[in-house]
Amino acid sequence: MEEIQEAKRGLPVLGREAPDFEAETTVGKIRLSDYRGKWVVLFSHPADFTPVCTSEFIGFAEKYQEFKKRNVELIGLSIDSVSSHIAWTRNIKEKFGVDIPFPVIADLGMQVAGLYGMIQEGESSTVTVRTVFLIDPEGILKAMIYYPLTNGRSMNEILRLVDSLQTTYEHKVATPANWKPGDAVVVPPPATAKAAEERLKEGYECVDWYFCKKKL
Ligand code: BEZ
Repeated sequence: MEEIQEAKRGLPVLGREAPDFEAETTVGKIRLSDYRGKWVVLFSHPADFTPVCTSEFIGFAEKYQEFKKRNVELIGLSIDSVSSHIAWTRNIKEKFGVDIPFPVIADLGMQVAGLYGMIQEGESSTVTVRTVFLIDPEGILKAMIYYPLTNGRSMNEILRLVDSLQTTYEHKVATPANWKPGDAVVVPPPATAKAAEERLKEGYECVDWYFCKKKL
């Protein structure tokens, strides 16, 4: 495991296997590769007991069932200890009445943060920025989002991205700007001139040969 964690520091690569790791969490040790068969949203926050992070944890907890419905497991992370995570999540329960139902990694040694480029020196060299990594059931990294320390994330956008990724994963299509479930999807561009000509006869909603949509 040391070897895996030491091997590839820096930004992970979309379309490649998400770097595997073993980590201490609020539910004990977990290994990313044990989540095969499920989608994973791995996300980092700067620090426990801070207001924006607290609002985000509440936001993720409120959407937890929506993620579960989509076969998505949430995993949080910061460079705080398990004891700090426990104290903070207990405080969120006490002060806001919200249970935090997902594991939170205590990345004190910054091993996972290093593998995923979660430390962005321009923001801070001691805390992780607000990252989100969406990983498919085969362990492939499908999308990543980086936010600075000062700006909380939209859980609705993360859920929308999960819907979009699951749709493109299952149907081999693409999704246009602001796509949401039920909207038409984009038919992948034709690879040959002949295919461009033929697709106009296939009953898609085409504005032109390169811009065709269809309902799923
Ligand atoms: C916050 O979560 O409130 C926060 C954390 C780090 C920097 C700025 C804000």
